[in-house]
Amino acid sequence: MQHQATHTRHYIFTPAIRIFHWLRALSIFVLIITGFYLAWPFLVAPSSTDVLVQGWLRFAHIIFGFGLTAVTIARFYLFFFSRHDIERRSFKDVMSVSSWISQLKSYLWVGHLNKAGVYGPLQFVTYVAISIVALFICITGLVLYANVYHQGLGGALWEISAWITAQMGGLAYVRVIHHYLMWAFIIFVVIHVYMAVWSGIRFKHNSVDSIVSGYDYHKDH
Ligand code: HEM
Repeated sequence: MQHQATHTRHYIFTPAIRIFHWLRALSIFVLIITGFYLAWPFLVAPSSTDVLVQGWLRFAHIIFGFGLTAVTIARFYLFFFSRHDIERRSFKDVMSVSSWISQLKSYLWVGHLNKAGVYGPLQFVTYVAISIVALFICITGLVLYANVYHQGLGGALWEISAWITAQMGGLAYVRVIHHYLMWAFIIFVVIHVYMAVWSGIRFKHNSVDSIVSGYDYHKDH
């Protein structure tokens, strides 16, 4: 019997998008763990001031925080200026009412997904929202940083940080906003991972592997 191809292969994610995706995943994971600890430093007794647990965890938080800030800037740049327009093309779907209806219907097992870019409209809007959350968590993080480290980058950011702190109602609020934004990430990650696996099963393609290999495989109808 002759072998017949049953899947079509599409190249959807460039190496930059894949590498930045996993760098972001790693930094968000580390930032949530260390962030929870910074918010509630339960390991150090009040009398033992020379134990640097908090200092080391804050150090890790800041390293990964700068990592996330760099990736966030790079991703904003790539979204607008990458030679590969597969992400930008999704904007056409966001503006099309019929794309929204076909996405929502397909989630209820009615009909097929029909989209111009790689993301569905609801997915695209969610990614834009989480990118804005990322921007704000980086800004509030840098403001907190400038308040702890007054030299180098901290010093350079001091004036703008003082202005942002005043707009947010004081340093305590900057911290609370930074903390609440963390919950947006926690909720996003749970739904994002669930939807990635679910949509691979629902639409018979390899959605999770494609962010590793760059290729999507669609089952031929
Ligand atoms: C997903 C990203 C992030 C999460 C989930 C996160 C989470 C947190 C949390 C929960 C806290 C403790 C706030 C509190 O007192 O309740 C914190 C503090 C802090 N974060 Fe973040 N953060 C993130 C990104 C960043 C970024 C991008 C920076 C920038 C470099 C940053 C810098 C800081 C600093 C300097 C503090 C204060 C540490 C201290 O006062 O000891 N964070 N973060």
